[in-house]
Amino acid sequence: MRAVVYDRYGPPEVLRLEDVERPVPKEDEVLVKIHATAVTRADCATREANRRSGLAVMLLSRFISGLRRPKQRILGTELAGVVEAVGAAVTEFAVGDHVFGSSGFRFGAHAEFICMRESARIAHKPTGMSFEEAAAVCDGGLNALWCLRLAELRQGQSILIYGASGSIGTAGVQLAKSVEADVTAVCTTKNLALVRALGADRVIDYTQDDFTTNGQTYDVIFDAVGKHAFRRCSGSLKRGGSYLATDGLQNLLLALWTARIGNKRVLFQIPPRYTKQDVLFLKELIEAGKYRAVIDRRYPLEEVVEATRYVETEQKTGNVVLTVSGDRGT
Ligand SMILES: NC(=O)c1ccc[n+]([C@@H]2O[C@H](COP(=O)([O-])OP(=O)(O)OC[C@H]3O[C@@H](n4cnc5c(N)ncnc54)[C@H](OP(=O)(O)O)[C@@H]3O)[C@@H](O)[C@H]2O)c1
Repeated sequence: MRAVVYDRYGPPEVLRLEDVERPVPKEDEVLVKIHATAVTRADCATREANRRSGLAVMLLSRFISGLRRPKQRILGTELAGVVEAVGAAVTEFAVGDHVFGSSGFRFGAHAEFICMRESARIAHKPTGMSFEEAAAVCDGGLNALWCLRLAELRQGQSILIYGASGSIGTAGVQLAKSVEADVTAVCTTKNLALVRALGADRVIDYTQDDFTTNGQTYDVIFDAVGKHAFRRCSGSLKRGGSYLATDGLQNLLLALWTARIGNKRVLFQIPPRYTKQDVLFLKELIEAGKYRAVIDRRYPLEEVVEATRYVETEQKTGNVVLTVSGDRGT
């Protein structure tokens, strides 16, 4: 099968297409023919061994992914496709089923086929959704869900989402609205209409206004893009409020510190732990019309280097999808 592989950590150019052996499903696994996948920030960070996050994170990253070279040669966490074969013990899926999901830190989805345990984060594709859209659901969706659950966000609470137009941000806006929270979304001018359409009650253009100086306070501030430090916005949190982080080693220390001292908490837990139930939850929201995938650009698998360069601009709106086959799947 064709797959995008890399044999050393480095820039997007270390990625290349290669013919590799097609995986064979074990007893409890399904073999999925992937029609669409996505390039995520997790792919980029892993490919360069998190070198932008400082020495400690880089060493930890290499310790996990391979000290000298990557142990898993195929990146890609997102997938949507068709079940090609099933192991003898599989009961939930049958050959021909349309599925979507996330392989998480096992990666392997930038390829024509992937094997996944049936108990893994895989579910039947939502009705009426294309493969491309389905491949753009789980990255932001699962990460935002993990963060928002830490904050136990409830109906009527106020949340400000900084970086509301990214993969996690667009998911965060929709998930916060699904529990009927009051959502203020922060992004640039070009993305205001989008985040409004996703359900934000209020929008702030950070090129025009600074939310930390307008006197408003929130139950939760969600830095969905790792660009707004706790110390810069703690004055905009209500007493007892929570700051949710997606990035930054310092936030782990702040989470420990603020759990004991002060009345405002930093919430940050890594690695995120998401489950098959979470994928099923997103599927239900989609089918209820409460969640949709936001796709910025689509590239064929062959253009993975260009797609990756674009993701690394940190300016994508929602998700960047790689199409592996021309079948739309709706
Ligand atoms: N996605 C993952 O797999 C994953 C997993 C764990 C953690 N993380 C971390 O979570 C964070 C978000 O990931 P993501 O995939 O959601 O990001 P993303 O999609 O790459 O975010 C892109 C968006 O960020 C906004 N942005 C860029 N610079 C900004 C700035 N200085 N201030 C405010 N907004 C800015 C841009 O919108 P505007 O033009 O509107 O500003 C753009 O739409 C990253 O720090 C990432 O490392 C990601």
